[in-house]
Amino acid sequence: MNRRDYYSIWLCFGAVTILSMHFASFASAEWPTCSGMVPVNYRNDKISITDYGGVGDGVTLNTKAFRAAIYRIEHLKRRGGTLLYIPPGEYLTGPFNLTSRMTLYLARGAVIKATMDSRHWPVVPPLPSYGRGRERPGGRYMSFIHGDGLHDVIITGENGTIDGQGGIWWNMWRLGTLLFTRPNLIELMNSRDILISNVVFKNSPFWNIHPVYCSNVVIRYVTILAPSNSPNTDGIDPDSSSHVCIEDSHITTGDDLVAVKSGWDEYGIAYGRPSHDITIRRITGSSPFAGIAIGSETSGGIQNIVAEHINLFNVGIGIHLKTNIGRGGVIRNITFSNIYMQNARKGVKISGDVGDHPDEYYNTNALPIVKDVTVKNVWGDNVQQPGLIHGLRNAPFTGICLSNIHLRGGQRVRNSGWQCSDVSGGAVQVSPWPCSQLTSSQQWGACSSSF
Ligand SMILES: *[C@@H]1O[C@H](CO)[C@@H](O)[C@H](O)[C@H]1NC(C)=O
Ligand SMILES: *[C@@H]1O[C@H](CO)[C@@H](O)[C@H](O)[C@H]1NC(C)=O
Repeated sequence: MNRRDYYSIWLCFGAVTILSMHFASFASAEWPTCSGMVPVNYRNDKISITDYGGVGDGVTLNTKAFRAAIYRIEHLKRRGGTLLYIPPGEYLTGPFNLTSRMTLYLARGAVIKATMDSRHWPVVPPLPSYGRGRERPGGRYMSFIHGDGLHDVIITGENGTIDGQGGIWWNMWRLGTLLFTRPNLIELMNSRDILISNVVFKNSPFWNIHPVYCSNVVIRYVTILAPSNSPNTDGIDPDSSSHVCIEDSHITTGDDLVAVKSGWDEYGIAYGRPSHDITIRRITGSSPFAGIAIGSETSGGIQNIVAEHINLFNVGIGIHLKTNIGRGGVIRNITFSNIYMQNARKGVKISGDVGDHPDEYYNTNALPIVKDVTVKNVWGDNVQQPGLIHGLRNAPFTGICLSNIHLRGGQRVRNSGWQCSDVSGGAVQVSPWPCSQLTSSQQWGACSSSF
């Protein structure tokens, strides 16, 4: 090899090294994570469900084993908390409560399976911010895995499965025979420092993961699956909760993949607990309803939400901000960015006439306030309608900023235009070109800071 070749190879190698170093630092700067948001305590004390009589044959009912194991964790209070190990096998059980300072660890091949007998499901009081069950008046069935007033709870493992066997519940809904609101797969109330990772959630009776009145919640590396025709099987619904981080997950269900909520009409207004400081990033999935939603229960207010790097495929509405008259609440400082969608009915929908009411006592003067919503860097193929933004006549939506949004139809998909009413804000680099309310706006100055 002559000297010149030697130098050029060396130069080339050096350039690659420098470039890859550059990309490494670029990547870590560019890909923030939820790490460090909640303490991850190592548990010295470990027990197995089999020590408490658990049998993973798919037939034996293990409710007593789960309750006994968790009772032991709660009452022995081992330093640093306790890990409850679920070995490979199918553990059929009725619903159970978690406790503080515990890790529920599902081994590879472990399945915690909900019993299909609804007589095993206690009925618990409605959430104060909803005033009644979400779908039936009165109480609601306890969640399959439930927790109230907890801290330091980890649900993790080697991608074992929590299976709600929701089919019987979906059928009761279809037949109209439900006595109470269906159970969530997991609900944690009034809790903090929660980590849910490396678990598969399957066939929830109702919403999958419901943190309500919680703070410091991390949900990452989860897979959530339910058939596209399963009713109300939302993926993750942070509700009147703050400092929630959801990332690197795949969600394919029959309803919204992620929906940020904060209570329902007069009950939510009275309870007054907002959802705020929530990050949703690097989510992929499909849904006949929304990819990422805000609402429709928004009565406590929803602020400081970022949803970014979302990949949607076969979705009803890519981005959906939904509220209603009677909700009250302030929805502000919401940012959706770097969203890609393929095959969507609608790209973006922001609207004040979505969702039902708990009863006839809602206050028709309680108008929601929607302001400072930024939607940027959005691409879509086969999108039937790019966007629909309908504010309320007596409470127009303001500061709605659209930038760098390209939502195309497809070979067989005619792309109709944007539709807007009672909205102001601005738009740059949006195709198809959005409605005149945004493009001719005097409020452009209010938008420009967010780009
Ligand atoms: C679960 O905990 C709640 C308190 O948060 C309690 O009222 C209920 O009886 C417990 N249920 C079961 C099945 O252990
Ligand atoms: C579990 O699934 C997640 C998400 O799909 C993946 O990133 C992770 O590597 C898997 N973990 C194990 C232990 O298989």
